[in-house]
Amino acid sequence: MRRPIVAGNWKMYTRSADAHILATAVRNSVMNLEGIEVIICPPALWVSEVLAVVGRGGKIELGVQNMYFEAEGAYTGEISPLMVRDVAKYVIIGHSERRAYFGENNLDVNEKVLAALRSGLVPIICVGERKREGLPKEPRYQLEEALHRVPKKHYRDVIVAYEPVWAIGTGENAEPEYVAKVVSYLREVGLADTPVLYGGSVNSKNVEGYARRPEIDGLLVGSASVRAAEFASICQTWAKEKIFKA
Ligand code: PGA
Repeated sequence: MRRPIVAGNWKMYTRSADAHILATAVRNSVMNLEGIEVIICPPALWVSEVLAVVGRGGKIELGVQNMYFEAEGAYTGEISPLMVRDVAKYVIIGHSERRAYFGENNLDVNEKVLAALRSGLVPIICVGERKREGLPKEPRYQLEEALHRVPKKHYRDVIVAYEPVWAIGTGENAEPEYVAKVVSYLREVGLADTPVLYGGSVNSKNVEGYARRPEIDGLLVGSASVRAAEFASICQTWAKEKIFKA
């Protein structure tokens, strides 16, 4: 279902003590925010620890940044959907860094999306073009592939994150008008009820432009999400702009 969301992807940042401090600061600063869902995706090793800080059923939901699609087995080093389900609700799937550095392709992404849904997890499906182009075909194709064999009635159970690769971690955020246009293009796949987020160099200074676009339901924030005050400020702006329009 479409709803205002701010998700933080901590990537491979934080040591154990940092995770504890950061989670505590985020919890305290978003505690009283109404009208938005806040998701944090720490490194998998810290999820239980962060869960102990934010609590179950509180303001903050947790996610992981990746998982394997098998339920269990001899897959050294992997984590399964069932393991994730014990501690978190969300799983980021197909992040461009997974695609670029770990060889994940559209088939893997599709298997993971199906596995997440089978296990009652909400996949946050990441798509985005590598090079700037007019109306980019790449994310639309990635999305169609990611949703292959997913029954249409489940489209409302996933989240899509549109993240142009050229905007991730570069400081070169995509213009809100451009993002709004691509999001509408992606929705044509059948995503009328699906939350669509934007990600790519979002910070407290540029967040407002996205918040004002009704096409964009939320954000997937990377580097700014490991700075507590910055992330809190992004969440506050999102809540302020979106609350009356939800
Ligand atoms: P960034 O990362 O905010 O650091 O650009 C976004 C992401 O990778 O999800």
